[in-house]
Amino acid sequence: MSEIQRNDRESVPFQDVCGLILAAGKGTRMQSDSPKVLQTLLETPMLWYVYRTMDRLFESEKINTVVGYKQELVHDLFQDRAAGFIVQNEQLGTGHALQCSLEALSRHASPWCLVVNGDVPLIKPEPLASLILETRRQQALLGFLTLELDQPSGYGRVHRDKEGRVLSILEEKDIAGNDQLMMIQEVNSGIYCLNLAGIEPYVKKLTNNNQQAEYYITQLVDLLVRDRKNVAAVKGGADQHFLGVNSPRELVQSEEIIRQELVEHWLDRGVVVHNPDQVRIAPTVVIDPGVEITGPLELHGQSYVQRGTRLDSHVWIKDSRLGPGAWVRNFSHLEGVRVGQNCRVGPFARLRPGAELKAEARAGNFVEIKKAVLDKGCKVNHLSYIGDAYLGEEVNVGAGTITCNYDGRNKHLTHVGKQSFIGSNTALVAPVKVGENSLIGAGSVVTRDVPEETLAVTRARQKHLVRKKTREDGKD
Ligand code: UD1
Ligand code: CA
Repeated sequence: MSEIQRNDRESVPFQDVCGLILAAGKGTRMQSDSPKVLQTLLETPMLWYVYRTMDRLFESEKINTVVGYKQELVHDLFQDRAAGFIVQNEQLGTGHALQCSLEALSRHASPWCLVVNGDVPLIKPEPLASLILETRRQQALLGFLTLELDQPSGYGRVHRDKEGRVLSILEEKDIAGNDQLMMIQEVNSGIYCLNLAGIEPYVKKLTNNNQQAEYYITQLVDLLVRDRKNVAAVKGGADQHFLGVNSPRELVQSEEIIRQELVEHWLDRGVVVHNPDQVRIAPTVVIDPGVEITGPLELHGQSYVQRGTRLDSHVWIKDSRLGPGAWVRNFSHLEGVRVGQNCRVGPFARLRPGAELKAEARAGNFVEIKKAVLDKGCKVNHLSYIGDAYLGEEVNVGAGTITCNYDGRNKHLTHVGKQSFIGSNTALVAPVKVGENSLIGAGSVVTRDVPEETLAVTRARQKHLVRKKTREDGKD
């Protein structure tokens, strides 16, 4: 299937359809305290994926979300969507969620509404578009997508008569014990296209007269069929992209499908992905062609990897910009950083938020860098902590150097001018400045500013005295 392109606001394919995402439930089967739609796949919330698909089809101001359980958490993560939030204070079922939404939906003046459960992160735009077109073609008041599953448990079963006409959707808890109905393999995907004016009277008639004492959106099918109104059950086959996420197992199964698709996506675009089964790339990451990566590896958040960059195995990166031509070696951990052209990082480096390596800079093994700039060609190659600092061009920092940036209350800055050399095992007690072209002797504790072109040594001079032998020594 070709991807539906959305280039700008004008080009959304469905101007006369609004969207509704049902996302108010707790998701009891996830056994988590956070709302189900905020559970993450590749560190990206489930709801993000649903929005991405809906945005391809509908104007974003016509996309509503029913929130309820811990809605403030959903609000925090999706503030830009909050104008479309509809609050369902008590979660009395999917039908109740729709009842709570009718008034807000009517404001869009769209005759049609596409409703999706918020727990279908794999859903793609194409089948949603087909559902809308097919519902209209059949002049139905309601259309829904069905799915063919070998193991239908957990889903509402699609009940048809002998001629194949849809009668109802039967929720699993209401047919427990009826083997014949339980064996039906055609199930409801939880994706609906509604003719808003047509279904309104039926939405008001929904009851909670069932095993779960919930208002089911699926009861609409039953009510419409009884009233001889057209209902379109559109077969989506065995497409796994309709799968709902209700349990930790289903969450990781869906995550694995997305993970594989993203790895394929980057392979198709000229990225060399070694050991692809163990590479996790979030959908928000951008990678240039000509990048080479080796799993196991994770790339998350708003990261951008530029051309010619190489990322070795066991590397974890989030919200970072890398390259071009950078090399991040094994077991390095980077978050919120910038690594410039041809830089070398690791192995075993930790770059924390605000670390910035300009071109050709290096941060080697067991080096931690936080909120600090390493200017062009600067090298911190071994066993160091550099925090709240600026290290000028071609500064060389010896092994074991520490910027003592914290006095127990406040953080202070360290500034080292270009081409200075900091000897091994130096403590730079901030706030402190070292001028350009200076040299700090190994083992120094620097508490005062060092002028430029200066050799500073703070350690005690080495003395040689005559060794007096003790009795114990004499025994040897
Ligand atoms: C629902 C369908 C079932 C279908 C399945 C597909 C009903 C009654 N059943 O069952 O036929 O096979 O989806 O995955 O609809 N929600 C609210 N407010 C509520 C209750 C739920 O917003 O009061 C939201 C949830 O956050 C969730 C979605 O609706 O995103 C579906 O709810 P869920 O409880 O997962 O429904 P299922 O039991 O899976
Ligand atoms: Ca569900």
